[in-house]
Amino acid sequence: MKRQGDKKEILVWDRATRVLHWTLVTLVVLCWLTAEAGSTWFWTHLVAGYGVLLLVLFRLVWGLMGNRHARFSSFVCGWRDVREHAVALLALTPPGHVGHNPLGGWMILTLLTGLVVLVVTGLFAADDEVAGAYAVLIRPGIADALAEIHETLYSVLWLFVALHIIGVLSISLLGRENLVRAMWTGSKRIPSDNPETDAAEPSTARYLIALVLAAIGVAAVIWGAPV
Ligand code: HEM
Ligand code: HEM
Repeated sequence: MKRQGDKKEILVWDRATRVLHWTLVTLVVLCWLTAEAGSTWFWTHLVAGYGVLLLVLFRLVWGLMGNRHARFSSFVCGWRDVREHAVALLALTPPGHVGHNPLGGWMILTLLTGLVVLVVTGLFAADDEVAGAYAVLIRPGIADALAEIHETLYSVLWLFVALHIIGVLSISLLGRENLVRAMWTGSKRIPSDNPETDAAEPSTARYLIALVLAAIGVAAVIWGAPV
């Protein structure tokens, strides 16, 4: 913890949360870039897609095992908190939050759920040239429809990503706190009289357990596919 005048700098986001966020952004962009790759290069889309699955599973485990700001219990709030935050935001006076704010918390769950649904629809999708590993289990007409749904969901995801970025930038401007920098460095500057202190950086063992659990999930999806 560093003190600078009437502000202090504390660690908020652990390493996993930060690395996961920027890797997730990269892989989602890669999924988009590789989507039209054609049958020869379609494996790149699959690698990026399974990568997204690994990160989302890791994030779900991390929501139970991560540092105090990464845990779901710290940012998944009830309707009353969400409404209060939305009203304050509309009045351009959002209250400061060291971790995710109540509205942001639900946006995070929406983005993660959207990615899970994208992966699941992708696994069952098929068109003339390419198919997900589970598409053989269902009728071709349904696999075709799932390919359409997969594509439409991707456009819907962009809409939520745009809202997410608008939310991050507006809270940064109104709260005079660069949230993007915080997601990169892990630290935030808060008033010195705020009782919050540095959040813990979880142990290597904890990182490994979460990674192994997420990897088991991806392996089960890959090896469970019909041949
Ligand atoms: C594909 C695009 C994106 C996805 C899927 C995404 C997803 C997420 C997720 C899941 C979180 C929660 C982090 C956690 O607790 O694990 C998050 C937080 C955050 N994201 Fe993104 N994000 C995307 C793009 C961006 C971009 C382009 C920016 C930069 C402008 C950004 C800035 C942030 C910030 C600053 C936070 C922390 C918000 C806070 O302080 O509460 N994100 N994002
Ligand atoms: C393991 C996970 C995934 C699998 C198996 C998969 C599979 C597929 C398949 C079979 C198609 C071809 C369907 C078609 O041409 O309409 C496709 C297209 C596409 N996928 Fe995925 N996908 C996965 C993950 C993702 C993810 C995570 C995203 C986005 C974040 C994504 C975005 C897209 C897009 C934008 C298309 C292009 C649709 C089009 O323009 O035709 N996919 N995917």
